Order: sequence, then structure tokens, then C-alpha cells
Amino acid sequence: MPRIPPTTRKALLTLHLITSLGWLGADLVLLTLGIAAQRGADPAVVYPVAGLVGTVLFAPLSVLVWLVGVASALLTPWGLVRYRWVLVKLVITTVMVGLVLFLLTPNLRHASALGAALPARDRADLVIAPAVSTTLMIIATVLSTYKPWGRRAARPSRPATAPAAARDRATTSK
Ligand code: HEM
Repeated sequence: MPRIPPTTRKALLTLHLITSLGWLGADLVLLTLGIAAQRGADPAVVYPVAGLVGTVLFAPLSVLVWLVGVASALLTPWGLVRYRWVLVKLVITTVMVGLVLFLLTPNLRHASALGAALPARDRADLVIAPAVSTTLMIIATVLSTYKPWGRRAARPSRPATAPAAARDRATTSK
């Protein structure tokens, strides 16, 4: 994969942070709205707002996070499958994008249409789903900052890659 200049890499990392942590923020809003409806806030108001946040902000952001995350891996020495922390983040994010697009967004639309008529089990789902996804995003954030577990089976022909990745990483933290 092509190496990108340090300024472009910083711009990409900035975009990655804005989109991924914005995604986490939007998820916390959904969690707050789900809890508010459980605690007696008017579902006829809360669920349409949650539907709007889900369809206008959360679902498009999830696709953007995936795309920018993959670009951040492919265009830097980290690579997409070279380091375990990147690979685990890829798996977590891919599963989440699927759940957001094919499960959560339809559920939010349904809740938005039903409002106060939404059954209790479906109401609980609108707390559980954002609680689980928020937890996964926090795990992804912790993995990103601690970068645990090192490399997957390093190729003997490229022994300098790990230090190069560390050196390249240092260029983004100046
Ligand atoms: C497709 C999924 C993802 C991939 C492949 C990915 C990959 C990467 C890579 C390679 C970096 C290092 C970039 C660089 O050094 O220039 C990075 C940084 C980071 N990522 Fe992700 N990411 C993904 C999703 C996420 C998610 C969902 C979050 C949080 C909600 C997240 C949070 C972060 C943070 C906070 C950093 C900065 C770490 C630092 O600079 O020390 N990423 N990511």
C-alpha cells in the first residue's frame, strides 16, 4: 500500500477521530433517549427524535467510520490485518455496521412510527442495543490508544516493519 505524507496522515487521523468518536457520541444520545423513554419521558416525542438521530446521523456515520477506519489502516504502516488491535477493531466495527444498518435502524424507524404504542420488549431493545454498541466502541477506543497484543505472525522477509510502524506512529503524535 502507498505511504502517505505526514500531513495527509494527520488529516486522515483527525477525520478518523472526528467520525469514530462522533459515532460514539451519537450512540450515547440514542442510549440517553432509550433510557428517557423507559423513565417516563413521552414516547411520542422521544422515539421520533431517536429515529431521526438513528437515520440521519448514526447510520450514515457508521458507514463513514468503517470507510475512514479502513483507509487509516491501509494507508499507514499499521495495515488492515498486520496488528491484532487493528484487526479486532475491524471485526468489531464491521459487525456493528451490519447490526446498525440491518437491525437498529429498522427498529428505530418502527419505534418512531409507533411512539407510545411500542411494546415494552421493543422499548427495552432500544436501551440494550445502544448500551452494547457503546461498550464495543469504548473497547475500540481503548484498543486504539493502548494498541495491545503486537503483530500477527511477522513475515521474515520484512523484519524492519514493526519499528517502521512505531516510527511512523511517532510522526502523527508530534
Ligand atoms: C474499520 C474499523 C477501524 C479500523 C480499521 C481502524 C484503524 C485505525 C488505525 C490504523 C489507526 C492508527 C492511525 C494512524 O496511526 O495514523 C487508528 C487510530 C485510532 N482509532 Fe481506529 N479504526 C477503526 C475503527 C475505530 C473505532 C470504531 C474507534 C472508536 C470508536 C476508533 C478509534 C481510534 C482512535 C481513538 C485512534 C487514535 C489512536 C492514537 O493515535 O493513538 N477506531 N484506527
